[in-house]
Amino acid sequence: MDRNENTPRLNIEDILLFDETLFRDSTAFDPAYIPEDYKYRDAQMGALAMCIRPALKKGKPSNAVILGPCASGKTTAIKKIFELVEKNSNKVVCCHVNCQTNNTPFSIISQIHQKVIGFKPPQTGSPLTKAYDSVMNKLSENEKALVVALDDVQYLFQRNHANTVFYDILKAHETYPNVKTSVFAIVSEIEFRYLLDKSVNSVFIPQEIVFQPYTHNEISNILNDRVRIGFYPNVISEEVVDEIIDTTSEIGDLRVGINLLRLCGNIAESEASKKITITHLEQAMNESEDIGLNSILKGLTNKERLVLKYISMIDETYTAGELFEYITEKEKISYATYDRALNKLEFLRLIDLNFTGKGKVGNSRLITLRFSPEQINNCLI
Ligand SMILES: Nc1ncnc2c1ncn2[C@@H]1O[C@H](COP(=O)(O)OP(=O)(O)O)[C@@H](O)[C@H]1O
Ligand SMILES: [Mg+2]
Repeated sequence: MDRNENTPRLNIEDILLFDETLFRDSTAFDPAYIPEDYKYRDAQMGALAMCIRPALKKGKPSNAVILGPCASGKTTAIKKIFELVEKNSNKVVCCHVNCQTNNTPFSIISQIHQKVIGFKPPQTGSPLTKAYDSVMNKLSENEKALVVALDDVQYLFQRNHANTVFYDILKAHETYPNVKTSVFAIVSEIEFRYLLDKSVNSVFIPQEIVFQPYTHNEISNILNDRVRIGFYPNVISEEVVDEIIDTTSEIGDLRVGINLLRLCGNIAESEASKKITITHLEQAMNESEDIGLNSILKGLTNKERLVLKYISMIDETYTAGELFEYITEKEKISYATYDRALNKLEFLRLIDLNFTGKGKVGNSRLITLRFSPEQINNCLI
């Protein structure tokens, strides 16, 4: 077909700069967004402040365990309190470490080095000892306390690094004069404490700070706040928002709601619609893997969840036999139960099992996770 001479040519710049948008602030739906108005967590923020307060007066900060289900605001609370502390005192260095991305002693000390000294440590020589030594000397010299928040600390247990990391941070005062350190362990598992060695438990005596799941009403207010920040007025109807609130509350994960808001906004925008309708929401729900995943995971038994959790924690490919050995070092589970769990996870298309053709048939199956470990962990809790 001949192109009509009068048809305006598609202008790529127009597409890039097209600014008719439903989003007043699209960052409001980013996973790392820190809400200015952080409701319902005053008690927890107060407890965190109490742990850090001694350090502002040259004392030792307390240790803490921060417990609560996924999306209950743990990471947000830490980021907010650390920001407040650093704004008000130069006597405390607060270091937030994401243990999912930093799960070895060296990568953790690198993060601390970056925060205390201002750059990443060199990787040569005996890098861990040198980096540790530089950090502690610097703190000692400047008479600064150190609070390290180990976020999603369960990832440190996968290669048994947790004990070393806790011990090294907490025992620093024995070697470096005047160094005062504490650890905030952020976890979603209640039984976490029993995973630490006795020697660590004797130096890590934490305050327990619990983040309860949000109620329906709290979820409603938080999501409505987010709508006001993220969208222009009257873009999204109350009906759509209420539907999102109900789904979020049913699943019990605030992230699902925030994600749905973003998704249905994107869909409406891609159709050049000036409003977000229930049809856009339905499309968003179909696209949202988290919702499907959440409902599948809800139907798993505790043992099946346990096996899936271990699969999501290992970062190499294991065979079924290797994984069984690995799990039974830490947990009690019979081979029959384990095998049934693997088959069910495969049936539900959460994992793939591929025969390698070597060794015993059952044990030599290679396990591959069909979702990202992060997606699984976000939904498992
Ligand atoms: N009280 C709150 N007010 C506003 N937003 C919140 C609140 N609690 C959590 N959120 C939002 O929910 C999401 C998950 O919070 P996060 O702190 O990452 O939870 P956790 O670390 O417990 O998994 C983030 O987008 C965060 O902004
Ligand atoms: Mg978190």
